[in-house]
Amino acid sequence: MAVALTALRADITTLAVDAIVNAANESLLGGGGVDGAIHRAAGPELLAECRALGGCPTGEARITRGYRLPVRHVIHTVGPIWRGGARGEADLLASCYRCSLELAAAHGVATIAFPCISTGVYGYPADEAARIAVGTVRDIVTQSFREVVFCCFSESDRALYAALLDA
Ligand code: APR
Repeated sequence: MAVALTALRADITTLAVDAIVNAANESLLGGGGVDGAIHRAAGPELLAECRALGGCPTGEARITRGYRLPVRHVIHTVGPIWRGGARGEADLLASCYRCSLELAAAHGVATIAFPCISTGVYGYPADEAARIAVGTVRDIVTQSFREVVFCCFSESDRALYAALLDA
């Protein structure tokens, strides 16, 4: 059975999937945006577990429990800061999706939701980031997944993903 790829406009902290992905920073000690929302919803134990991880390099991913969130796991990945596009940003962003899926598959995750990594504070152009996200997930998602949700915070982002998924 094929893996369902869907675009949804929602607050990712409300999704009852096996795992949600956090757009974190290299310290893994929380921040604003979706990182702040996930930590607020998960509660203080999430920060305690993150602190013990000792950070995460850009492009890689780490997994924790979900605590007060309606998910088994949170996968924390660190997207690239947009610096104009000639500093390897595209490969680093693709690596975030690849490492997150690999880590999720290793933990038996069947349904996973991604935010629009790097397109907020980190300034990555939304359309280019969406193309990389959908292209990477399409290329590597294995049959072990039932659904991958691209969880957008804005209607414009959701429309971007919907158009790419219909193509
Ligand atoms: N649910 C889903 N998406 C959300 C939510 C939410 N509750 N809150 C914000 N977003 C969206 C933003 O609108 C944006 O489209 O997540 C996307 C990623 O934006 P950021 O959260 O700013 O993440 P990013 O651009 O990757 O920057 C990461 O920001 O919050 C800090 O600690 C974080 O330093 C890190 C940096």
